[in-house]
Amino acid sequence: MTNHIQSVRGMRDILMDESPYWIDIENKLKEIAYSYGYQQVRLPLLESTDLFKRSIGESTDIVEKEMYTFEDRNGDRLTMRPEGTASCIRAGIQHGFLYNQIQRVWYQGPMFRHERPQKGRYRQFEQFGMEAFGMQGIHIEAELLIASWRLWQQLGLSEFLVLSINDIGNLKERQHYKEVLVQYFEKHIDALDEDSKRRLVSNPLRILDSKVPDMQKLIEQSPKIQDYLAKETQDNFQQLLAILDQLKIPYRVKPTLVRGLDYYNNLVFEWETEVLGAQGTVCAGGRYDGLVEWLGGNATPAVGFAIGLDRVVMLLQTLQPKHFTGPDLMVMTLDDVARQKALEITEFIRSRFPKLNIWLNCGTKDLKKQLKIADRMKASYALILGPEEYKNNNIIFKSLQNNSGQRLCHITFDNIAQSNELFDQLENIINPNKGV
Ligand code: HAM
Repeated sequence: MTNHIQSVRGMRDILMDESPYWIDIENKLKEIAYSYGYQQVRLPLLESTDLFKRSIGESTDIVEKEMYTFEDRNGDRLTMRPEGTASCIRAGIQHGFLYNQIQRVWYQGPMFRHERPQKGRYRQFEQFGMEAFGMQGIHIEAELLIASWRLWQQLGLSEFLVLSINDIGNLKERQHYKEVLVQYFEKHIDALDEDSKRRLVSNPLRILDSKVPDMQKLIEQSPKIQDYLAKETQDNFQQLLAILDQLKIPYRVKPTLVRGLDYYNNLVFEWETEVLGAQGTVCAGGRYDGLVEWLGGNATPAVGFAIGLDRVVMLLQTLQPKHFTGPDLMVMTLDDVARQKALEITEFIRSRFPKLNIWLNCGTKDLKKQLKIADRMKASYALILGPEEYKNNNIIFKSLQNNSGQRLCHITFDNIAQSNELFDQLENIINPNKGV
C-alpha cells in the first residue's frame, strides 16, 4: 500500500466550503483599506533572519523558539516571515518610501510560526495588516481603531468583540517601570515559574503575559505601569479613550497587556472574543515609534495592527454559517453536436451575464444522470439542448428548485445575440423581482 503524503503539521488546506468566507472578508478588507487611504505593499515571504531578531526582539517567544529559519544554498540565514511589520519597514527603508514621509500601507499574506498547533493556532496563518508611518498623536491611533471597528461591523461581528487596550509608556517610562517590576518579582522569586525566572533577566515585562495559573495572583498584585507614566502620557491615553467612548466602541483598559513583541511603546491593543476559546485574539497592534530607527531608518513614529484572518473566518463560520447554493445554471446536452453548440451559447451567456455561475456539463450525455448531478449540486436552473431542440432552433429552460416547470425558448443558433426569449429568462434569474 502506498503512503499518502499528508500536509505538514500546523499547515492547513482551506477547502471549497471555507474559501467563500475568505473571499468575502478579503473584499471587505480591501474596500476598507482603500477608503482609509491605505496602499498595498506585497512583500516576500523570506527575509534575512536578522530582520526579525532586531525588530521582534531576541528574547521573545517568536524569535527564541518559533521561527522557521534555515540556511539557503549560499549559506545565507533566512527566515519565513513570522509577521509583516518588520518586512514593511525593511521595504520602506530600502525603497525610501518612509524617508520623511507620511505613509499608510496594508499587506496580506501567510505568516509562519512554529507554535504548538491547536484550534485557531496554526504554523502557517494569514494576516491582514495596516501600518501608518510618520504620524504622532492619538488621532491616527483612533482612526486605526475605528477602521478595525468598521470591519467588525461590516462583518456583523462587532457585538462579539471587545477591545483590550493599554498604554505601556514611552521608552524612558518603561525602563523605569521595568526596574520596579524586577524588584517586585525578585522579592517573590520563589513563586516564579522557570519561564518567568528567565524573563526576569531577559524581558521582565513579558512576565505579565504569563498564562501560568499559579502566577496570576502575583501578576494581579504587581505594580501597574499607569503609576509610572508621566502626566502627559496619561492625558494622551485618556483622550484616546474619550474618543472611543464617544464612538461607543467597547473597550476595557487592561493594565497587564504588554504584547509578545518587543517593539511597542505607549498604545497596545488586542481585539478579543470569547467565542473561539483559548485563541480568542483576532487582531492586535500598537504604536512602535522606535522600530524604523532600530532597523536603520530615520526616527519615524508608527502605529499599526494585524488581523488574524483564520480566526476571523472561524468566528464567521461559528456565528454566521453559510448555506451554499449551487450553480445558477447547469447546461445539459445529449450529444456531441449539441455540446459543441452549447459551449458557444454558454460563452455568449457568460459575456452578457457575468454574474451568473454556470456549470457546463462535460461528463455524461444521459439526461437523467445530468439531472441527478444538478440535484446533488443544488443547481437552480437548467438549459437542456438535445438533437430535437437543436433541429428546431429551440433550447429548454427548466427551473430545478421550485416546480415551476420548463419552457421552450427559441434560439437562433447562427446568431445567438437574437435569442431574446432565452435572455429574458436569464435576466429573471439575476433579477427575480423584475416585472413582478
Ligand atoms: P501578533 O499579535 O503576533 O502581532 O499577531 C497578530 C494576530 O495574528 C493575532 O492577534 C492573531 O489573530 C494572529 N495570529 C498570530 N499567531 C497566529 C497563529 N499561530 N495562528 C493563527 N493566527 C495567529 C503581530 O504580528 C504584529 N505584527 C501586529 C502589528 C502590526 N503591530 C503593529 N503593526
